[in-house]
Parts: sequence; C-alpha cells; structure tokens
Amino acid sequence: MRQSSLVVVANRLPIDDSVAPDGACEWRRSPGGLVSALHPLLRQAPATWVGWAGGTGPAPALPDIDGVRMHSVSLTSDDLRDHYEGFANATLWPIYHDAVEQPEHHRRWWDAYQRVNRRFAEATAQVAEAGAVVWVQDYHLQLVPELLRTLRPDLRIGFFLHVPFPPPELFMQLPRRAELLRGMLGADLVGFQRAQAAHNFAQLVTKVLGLPATDRRIAVDDRMVRIGAFPVSIDTTEMAALAGQADVVERARRLRRDLGGPDQVILSVDRMDYTKGIEQRLKAYSELLAHGHVKVRDTVLVQVAVPSRERVGQYQILRDRVEREVGRINGEFGRVGEPAIHYLTQPFDRAELAALYRVADVMAVTPLRDGMNLVAKEYVAARVDDTGALLLSEFAGSAAELQQAYLVNPHDLEGLKQALLAALRADPIDVRTRMRAMREYLHQHDIRAWARSYLSALDQSDSLLTRLGSDS
Ligand code: ADP
Ligand code: F6P
Repeated sequence: MRQSSLVVVANRLPIDDSVAPDGACEWRRSPGGLVSALHPLLRQAPATWVGWAGGTGPAPALPDIDGVRMHSVSLTSDDLRDHYEGFANATLWPIYHDAVEQPEHHRRWWDAYQRVNRRFAEATAQVAEAGAVVWVQDYHLQLVPELLRTLRPDLRIGFFLHVPFPPPELFMQLPRRAELLRGMLGADLVGFQRAQAAHNFAQLVTKVLGLPATDRRIAVDDRMVRIGAFPVSIDTTEMAALAGQADVVERARRLRRDLGGPDQVILSVDRMDYTKGIEQRLKAYSELLAHGHVKVRDTVLVQVAVPSRERVGQYQILRDRVEREVGRINGEFGRVGEPAIHYLTQPFDRAELAALYRVADVMAVTPLRDGMNLVAKEYVAARVDDTGALLLSEFAGSAAELQQAYLVNPHDLEGLKQALLAALRADPIDVRTRMRAMREYLHQHDIRAWARSYLSALDQSDSLLTRLGSDS
C-alpha cells in the first residue's frame, strides 16, 4: 500500500465517471470548490484522497487524478440508505440547518453512521504515512477524528465542518450528542465556517461533556484541541477568467436574447434543497407579479434547481411542491413564448454557469440557512465589470463576508419582496460600489487563502506548507 504525507478524507471523491469515445468508463476530476482548493497542495505532497466513488458494491480501483491518489471506500446499499440518506441527510442535515424540516431519528441509522465512519478511519489509517497530516471533511464523518486517533496516535488530524453548527438548543435533541462531540474532539483543530459555530461547539462540549472550553481551545485529556472559524471560498481567479472569456460573453449575450431581451434578469442557482428558500422566493416573486410591481415582459426569473438526494422523502416532497408552484405561476402570469419563470433542473458546465452569472442583473441567493453558499461568491467573482446586484440571505455564511450585498431575511415575505424590488431598482452607482468592494474582498480571500490558513493553523510548525512550497 502506497502511503502519503497528506490525506484528505471526504464523503465523496473529487471525481466523476464519464464514458470515453470507445465506450469505456473514464474517471475525471470533478469541478468544484474543495478539489480546486486543495489541488495545488495535493499535487506536491504526495497526497491521497479517501472517499466514496458513488454507487454501491465493491470499491472501484481508480487511477491517480492529476498526481493525487484516489482511495475509494465502498458503501453497500444499506450504508447508502442508512448512513448517507439517513443519519447524514435526514438526521444531521435538518438539525444543523435550524430544523427547517423535521429531523428523523432511527437507531439503525446510528449503527450505519458508526460503521461507515469506522470504515473511513481504517482506510485512512492504511494510507497515511508516519506523522502525516490528515484533513477530515464535513458532517458525514464526524466520528473519524477520534477513531483515527485511536488507530494512529502519530497523525496530525484536522476536521472541518462545511455546514452550520447549530445552537445548543437544537444540537441537544440528538440522542447521540455526546458521541458526536467526542468524535470531533479527536482532531487537533476543529474548523467551522463562522465564529458563532465555534462558540456553539465550545458551549456544547462544556454542557454535554463537562470539558473546560473557550471559543479557541478545549482541554481534552492531556491534549489541547483548537477550534476556530475558517470561511471557505472559491477559485476567484478561475471564475473571473472564465467569465471574461470571449465565448462566455457571447453565450451570455445569446442567453439574454433567448430570454426575450428583458430589461432585467433575476437568477437563482440552487441544489434542490429545503434549506435554500426556493419556495419562499417563488412566493415573493409571485406576489410581486400579482400586484404589478414586476412585469413579465420586462423582467424574467431564471431558477436553476438541480435535483439532489432524490431518495430522501423531504427532497421528493420539495421538488413536487416547487414544480407545482412554478407551473402555477407560469400558468397565471406567463404568456405564449414568455414564461414568468425559466425553470431548469440540469447540471451545467462551468462556462455555462459563468454565462448565466454574467447575464443576471440580480442574483437572488436567499437560503433559510446555509453553511457558506459558494454560488453567491461565484456570482461576485464572475461580475468582472463590477455590475450586478447580489441579494443575499442574512442566514448564509457568506453574508458575514459579503457585507455589501443587499441583505435580506428570507423568512420575512414582505421584507423579501421589498429587498428584491430594491435590488431591481438600485442606483447603478450604488450597485457598482458594492460589487467592487465585494470583488476586492474575494480576491484576497480565495480558496487558496482558505486552505493555507487552515493547514498552517493545523500544522503549527508550518512544516507541511514549507515542504509544499510557496506557490501552493
Ligand atoms: P451546496 O454546497 O449546499 O450545494 P453551494 O452554493 O455552496 O451549495 O455550492 C453549490 C455548488 O454547486 C456551486 O459551486 C455551484 O456552482 C454548483 N452548482 C449549482 N447548481 C449547478 C448546476 N445546475 N450545474 C453545475 N453546477 C452547479
Ligand atoms: O455543503 C454541504 C454538502 O454536503 C457538500 O459537501 C456537497 O458538495 C453538497 O452539500 C452536495 O451534497 P451531496 O454530496 O449530498 O450531493
């Protein structure tokens, strides 16, 4: 077994399978934040990524992708149902997102969560060389740090949570709250998106485990676990370069024409998830149409909503409700060839997304709760001419950073309507000033800055980053 000095552990491997021209299955690096963030680092390490390749059955043997070893962990169909769809996405996900949907508790889901976490920890213990740095990602794998420390006390272990970490009142509902906290405390550094999440975590370890904690450190046995906020970001330069390409500008021009050449385009791009506030946004838009504040001929809404976690009941119900509402609004307010809402459920390539961002005069990002929301950051990065108004929920992690956005409380329907109108009618000079400030901020705080700040905090001697060179 080849071993690595840097190991990333995440539920998913950063790859997609596709079919080559000769019909064979080909694995490619998937586009997306974490992969591009870590890619420069991983390439130099040498590094291994431990994760699930999708599907069930035996783990496929995978080629290295751009010099990074892919180590796949297998899931059975029971694991998929009870760990990924069950405990991760029907127990933890709703609790971590303000319980906007009811969390479900089943003892068999907890068994699967433990089993799958153990499998990931064992796989990681095999591929990490002596003294390696291991970075565990997200809520699917909260038990891995502690399990791994027991198996391999020589490792330096980091854990980062991409989703919100809830206030004690909500977390306390979890029947296995103590085990989940202890699992995370196996890490040397526990990172969150926001300072409030680190505060919630510190309060909980004192309340549930009786450990002395501040918002920066927690004493666990003879160790000190550090905690902190490290807001994740995007590859700002890559998105800006893409959005500036001549073919993308041309695609954006054609898109506007195909949309009927409206005065203003409002865009939303979400995974189909009840945390994203899609229904509330549709209701606000429908009321603006009904009262004549917005006219279909002048303004169009493009709602992209890629289906997600499709076997989880709450996601099926949401999709049905959204599609019924889009149908109702189009039936009531659209005209032949002029729908009120252009509704798309397809995945797009990065260039098409960049073209959509460039065509959007107003980007409506209004989740009820979101760990970060990278779409908001991608939109800002894509507005290379400093135009475009970002309407952003106060409950997205990105609102703590993109403070010049038009901020809104998506639970307040009247407030949402007013904010959408304000963004549509904003003074272009005000829009430009805000967008410029946000773009400057994102240039400094891109995904590489995030990875560096986390890893240098994890590896306090900085030996990893020094070894990996300064261009990482
Ligand atoms: P979440 O992690 O909850 O899905 P984020 O907004 O943080 O939400 O990240 C979503 C990511 O998925 C972004 O990088 C975005 O560009 C991408 N994405 C969303 N919709 C699509 C789509 N239709 N096609 C391709 N990529 C998409
Ligand atoms: O933002 C949380 C997250 O789980 C990400 O890690 C992931 O990319 C996204 O949501 C999509 O979720 P899934 O992996 O369940 O498709």
